[in-house]
Amino acid sequence: MKFFVDTGSVEDAKKAMATGYCDGVTTNPSLISKGDSRPLEIIVKEITEIVHGPTSVEVIAEDAVKMIEEGQLYASWSTHVVVKVPCTQEGLKACKALSREGTPVNVTLCFQPLQALVAAKCGAAYISPFIGRLDDIGHVGLQLIEDIRCLYETYGFETEILAASIRTVEHLTRVALAGSDVATIPYGVFSKVLSHPLTDKGLEVFLADWNASRPS
Ligand code: E4P
Repeated sequence: MKFFVDTGSVEDAKKAMATGYCDGVTTNPSLISKGDSRPLEIIVKEITEIVHGPTSVEVIAEDAVKMIEEGQLYASWSTHVVVKVPCTQEGLKACKALSREGTPVNVTLCFQPLQALVAAKCGAAYISPFIGRLDDIGHVGLQLIEDIRCLYETYGFETEILAASIRTVEHLTRVALAGSDVATIPYGVFSKVLSHPLTDKGLEVFLADWNASRPS
């Protein structure tokens, strides 16, 4: 299973890579606008040079022709760029065209299983179901991951499930157990992946015992 960091910040990408268990990055227009006011091209090139792994960059256009042009431009910035398109009719037209040209596409804003099925039929490399946002409106986000896993296994699609809108370590654990291929995680959650009070306590006791047995 792959872990991506969900960020628009070059610094977060650096810190996530330093952990040794970050495989890629996802950005979106909101994250980019929060993190950095420099041109998108500069930010994306810096991130891909740090990460050397899949880096999703989202189109802003709303019609397929313009999305394709934007996607082609993004893909020219680095071989690591994955073009992110929304799960709309226009987005899926762009997905099909870009995928046929060999550009990997991440279909984002997926909230129900049929959207994932259609995205896979249109050649998506990744589908991004948004777990946290479903939980926010009283649905069970995790169920969506399980349903997409079932559909993709049944019909033999190779599209990777990229669990998105992850808010907690518990979300991450659950999507991993449900068979997500990838999870994209905000750096705040990324840094907590290994935290457990009993690990800290156990280490403290081991070191105290060791030091007590070997007085300097
Ligand atoms: C996915 O690629 C999105 O950037 C992201 O996970 C959105 O998460 P949010 O619902 O916390 O904004």
